[in-house]
Amino acid sequence: MEKKWWKESVVYQIYPRSFKDSNGDGIGDLNGITEKMDYLRELGINVIWLSPVYQSPNTDNGYDISDYQAIMEEFGTMEDFDRMLQSAHDHGIRLVMDLVVNHTSDEHPWFVESRKSKDNPYRDYYIWREGRDGKEPNNWGSCFSGSAWKYDAATDMYYLHLFAEKQPDLNWDNPKVRQEVFHMMDWWCKKGIDGFRMDVISMISKDPALPDGPVNGSGYGDYGPYAVNGPHVHEYLQEMNREVLSKYDLMTVGECSGVTIEEAKKYANQDGRELNMVFQFEHMDLDGGETFKWNDRKINLKELKQVLSKWQTELAGTAWNSLFWDNHDQPRIVSRLGDDSTREYREASAKMLALCLHMMQGTPYVYQGEELGMTNVPFETLEDFRDIESINAYHELTESGQVSPEDMMRFLRYKSRDNARTPMQWDDSENAGFTEGTPWIMVNPNYKEINAKEQLARPDSVFHFYQKLIRLRKEREIIPYGEYELLLPEDPDLYVYTRALGEHKLLVICNFRKEEKEFTLPEGFDPGMGEILIGNYPDRELGETMTLKAYEALAILW
Ligand code: GLC
Ligand code: CA
Repeated sequence: MEKKWWKESVVYQIYPRSFKDSNGDGIGDLNGITEKMDYLRELGINVIWLSPVYQSPNTDNGYDISDYQAIMEEFGTMEDFDRMLQSAHDHGIRLVMDLVVNHTSDEHPWFVESRKSKDNPYRDYYIWREGRDGKEPNNWGSCFSGSAWKYDAATDMYYLHLFAEKQPDLNWDNPKVRQEVFHMMDWWCKKGIDGFRMDVISMISKDPALPDGPVNGSGYGDYGPYAVNGPHVHEYLQEMNREVLSKYDLMTVGECSGVTIEEAKKYANQDGRELNMVFQFEHMDLDGGETFKWNDRKINLKELKQVLSKWQTELAGTAWNSLFWDNHDQPRIVSRLGDDSTREYREASAKMLALCLHMMQGTPYVYQGEELGMTNVPFETLEDFRDIESINAYHELTESGQVSPEDMMRFLRYKSRDNARTPMQWDDSENAGFTEGTPWIMVNPNYKEINAKEQLARPDSVFHFYQKLIRLRKEREIIPYGEYELLLPEDPDLYVYTRALGEHKLLVICNFRKEEKEFTLPEGFDPGMGEILIGNYPDRELGETMTLKAYEALAILW
């Protein structure tokens, strides 16, 4: 397998609004990130993925962009950006920007022009259709509730928005749109950035017939068959690659919800014609149901192992995986797959989950606060939420009577994206040291117990465990490059797998339960010869049979 720097890297995702506020307005900003560069170097990560910092009216916290070449005022200036980029590079950290080009904001000048008249030169930058019998052009529902079409009286037509009304979809079939996007990307590359994380990039090509989709639980049609991995998506990404990506040494990752293995092998093929890797969501969608993500079901471990193992083995040698539990769209993993009920269980299970993921093949992503074992948030009322997806879903599902208000509040507390978006917990001072003003969203009240300052000072903290995992990936080739094999697929409580490279084998054992579990080493693994690379209980000794403690995890090298 070909070696690449981005295969040996660990990425840290920053959600700038919630990372560090430097000027007391309650909103995280670029200078705040620059202040924390030493912290990131201490953790040992090599790459930052920065969620959008471009000019935006903030309907979807920056994922609705009105100027791709300007910085959001609340976050600072272009000079602040340049200083942050320089500081990252001085710290040996590369910077990957979020690229949100499936849609723009409706306040983007292209859309402002586009909606003016049918013959405006920007009309075809977006997807406009006549109504059907005085109603929407087709039955598609939007990701953020309601129809995916918005009527615009100026021209008596509808425009498509797969997300919020204020996020009209760009028309990628128009070569001018592609040229504008490529030109803008090139501008950022020339500035010296190191790559792109491409927002919902699997959705940029739509079947031009825009057929009705199969009706789902929401009462709307599913656009998936006609807009996800659509007819020209690979062609457009190859064009982007020729025009921009191939000219620089970049890391590229496509956010590809709804991606299959077969499709991923095209997006992230090692032939380098499209992207380096994709985010797939099959493991995160395992607790979905009739009302989509809105429920409080627990992910079944056997299913989780099966899905993750499939991605590990089937991409091997052809494409490259990205590894993640958390991001700005997911609730906190320690509350979802781990155990945040006591301090002891929280720390043990946060470390176990980290070890389980970081010993796999692929590029790991750490989402801000995950390295502290930050948890979900005890939101009390709907007013505590800021996220458009959560608020719209609450209204849609409770008003239609599909979910009771009490249940929905419980589901929001368990699954809302806002769980990941409360301020980073830096220390035990007011507002967790995030801001001296009033934070834009509540701080998790557990910051006195869970914060970076306390963990930096304590050698056995979750922070130091992540630091060690990140260091090991750089020291041991078997971690990025070894071959993966799942053991004990039927075990409902343990996740056990091996990695193999040359003469060496790495055995990874994770107990996903608080109950103790017996584990016997597979044949051929001599306990006297194995070296524990990392584990979450300090006094673990290797034996042919071991009693694993609550959420115990270890990686042993032979
Ligand atoms: C992606 C982003 C998410 C955003 C959506 C629309 O899924 O990660 O935060 O709301 O795209 O841009
Ligand atoms: Ca600020």
